[in-house]
Parts: sequence; C-alpha cells; structure tokens
Amino acid sequence: MNRKVSFTAMEHGTREDYDLVEIQEARNAADIADRVLAWLRSMHGQSPYRISRLDHSLQTATRAERDGADDETVACALLHDIGEVISPRNHSEVAAALLAPYVSEKNRWIVRHHGLFQGYYWLQHYGRDRNARDRHRDHEHYEACVEFCARWDQVSFDPAYGTHPLERYEPLVRELFARPKRTFL
Ligand SMILES: [Fe+2]
Ligand SMILES: [Fe+2]
Repeated sequence: MNRKVSFTAMEHGTREDYDLVEIQEARNAADIADRVLAWLRSMHGQSPYRISRLDHSLQTATRAERDGADDETVACALLHDIGEVISPRNHSEVAAALLAPYVSEKNRWIVRHHGLFQGYYWLQHYGRDRNARDRHRDHEHYEACVEFCARWDQVSFDPAYGTHPLERYEPLVRELFARPKRTFL
C-alpha cells in the first residue's frame, strides 16, 4: 500500500484518511487465521509435559469433537491456550480477548476462566485453594467451564491418546476468523 494518510496526529485525520486505514485493517483481519495457525505451530517445542503444548491443544480439541461439541466449541478447545505464545502468565485472558469477536459469550467466558478452573487440579500442591474457582459458582457458565476442564483440558496430556493433526482443524480455524460476530472498541 503506497497511499498514506494526510495527518501526523489523529486529531487532524479526515474521513478519507480513516477509509484508507480501514482498508489496511480489513487486509490484516483477513490474515488472522494464518497468524493464529502459525502461533499454534510455534507451540510444538519442548515442554516439561509428556506432549508439546501444540499436541495438548490438539488433544483438547479432539476430545471436544469426539464428545460431539459444535465447531465453535472445538475451535475454542483448540485455541484455549493460544495466549501462552505472547503472555504465559495471563494466557486465559489473552486467548479470550483474541476469540471474543468470533465466539459466543459462553465460549468466551469459558476460555477466559479456564486457567483459574484448571487450578482445581494443582493449586493444592502449593498450599493454595484448589476451589478458588468457586467464587464463580453462581455464574451461568460455571458448570460448563468445570466440564470443559474435566473432560477435555486437564486430561489432554496423554501421548497414547489418538490425537487429530492440526490439518484437520485448519478449515475450522479459517471459518471461525472469517466471520466476526461482534466488534469492540
Ligand atoms: Fe490453559
Ligand atoms: Fe490447556
């Protein structure tokens, strides 16, 4: 893109300038599935677990699919840990923010809180409250998040499980990011 906006400070921009910016943003949005798939592939490195973080993500998606989850939910299972790529300490929030325009509020909430809910399986080893997630007990998606962790996430560290390859889920990722449901400012 050779054309440039007329301004050096946003307050001086015109509608024509912002139309130009919007064209570029639309192109960026069209590439998001490729970027997300590249981030997923980058999770195929060393890890203290018995499988890579990519294989954990694929196994979580495979279990969701085999349980009959819909495509959006399988995509969220695949991408629930994608935030680890840029923010390991805050990965649930990052993944939820990435997915928010493209998924239901229920799926966003599950991804946003899965880290806390997974704490049920390990926090006690550090003298912390494994039931910390119960502060959300009255939330409408509490049980769904408990189930996400119990049936798909916390069990997906098994090298012997028949995990689907990433190629199976590429169309699903492209479909997800092709159609935003909401926009946020
Ligand atoms: Fe996680
Ligand atoms: Fe996970």
